[in-house]
Amino acid sequence: MIPIARPQMGEEEKERVWEAMSSGSLAQGPRVKQLEEEFAAFVGADHAVATSSGTTALHLALLGHGIGEGDEVITVPFTFIASANSIVYTGARPVFVDIDERDFTMDVSQVEAAITPRTKAIMPVSLYGQPADMPAIDDIAGRHGLAVIEDAAQAHGAAVGDRRSGTWGAGAFSFYPTKNMTTGEGGMITTLDGAYAERVRLLREHGMKVRYHHDIVGYNFRMTDIAAAIGLAQLPKLPGYNERRRAIAARYDGELKGVITPYVRPGVTHVYHQYTIRVHERDAFVEKLKDRGVGSAIYYPIPVHRQKPFVAMGYGDQSFPVTDRLTELVVSIPVHPSLSDDEVSTVIGAVNETAAELGPLEVGAAAG
Ligand SMILES: Cc1ncc(COP(=O)(O)O)c(C=O)c1O
Repeated sequence: MIPIARPQMGEEEKERVWEAMSSGSLAQGPRVKQLEEEFAAFVGADHAVATSSGTTALHLALLGHGIGEGDEVITVPFTFIASANSIVYTGARPVFVDIDERDFTMDVSQVEAAITPRTKAIMPVSLYGQPADMPAIDDIAGRHGLAVIEDAAQAHGAAVGDRRSGTWGAGAFSFYPTKNMTTGEGGMITTLDGAYAERVRLLREHGMKVRYHHDIVGYNFRMTDIAAAIGLAQLPKLPGYNERRRAIAARYDGELKGVITPYVRPGVTHVYHQYTIRVHERDAFVEKLKDRGVGSAIYYPIPVHRQKPFVAMGYGDQSFPVTDRLTELVVSIPVHPSLSDDEVSTVIGAVNETAAELGPLEVGAAAG
């Protein structure tokens, strides 16, 4: 079976982890600092703050703006639940707007109508490796005095023009094993704002600048030096990984038939954390791919507003027609950089045979 993800761990990772373990610096230490500096440089941000996960990066990014009880944050329901959960953790309320039919990211035309006097921030999600329309969102936020927190968990190296994800407001990245680069578990906040980065650091360290002197109630959201050691081995390989993902995607774009392939906005660099197609008879499609030896996954089978805790919070009656429709159509196929050319050909053959059997998706029905 060709798996949907296959994290790559080589000799460099082993050596660096062993070196970290042998040094005695196991918790947050010099390797975390080095990874922060190198990741900030990669993204083009002035500051980076490493965290224990992408979820804690989002949570801290919100706390760094003082967001809490009584506040609202605008985000999308077509995402991994961590985007919305991080808002709930702070006591603020997620306000959902639908996604764009073509590219799966926040429908910018709906944002202004969702702004109320309680709105404090906009959290677009750069889903599947395609950046949300960050310049447009940044512009709206600027006009209304709102913070921008990009959920860039899937967007390491993605860009609009030559400006990378993580350079508008605050970016929150994840280094979960399936991501474009990994530290095992881990995350990173990036920003151009030095004062904000300092607040976030303080919150990450139990509000402590001087040892055991606590200025505010903070958290332990630190990354370990062992995780950072993996990240230091992975980061130099990230550009090559992304190029390989993009090359595989280009083959899929050219060779898949009877399915709707991803739409990439002009001028955008998509780094294909996922290659997500829309298909006819999705559940049967997944089964037939499996029979042909190709793993796939649904990201995500239930939109956030229909997940149990959000139904309990009263979101269940809300309607996001594009999200609800696309949730039924999407399937992600393997696009990870360790795929061989032969495996890519196998995936193409399996998708095309399955689409021929089940019939093509009507483009009009799904607007590609
Ligand atoms: C869009 C999105 N947001 C947030 C997260 C949370 O990241 P983590 O799993 O590292 O906590 C993820 C990753 O799983 C994600 O895909």
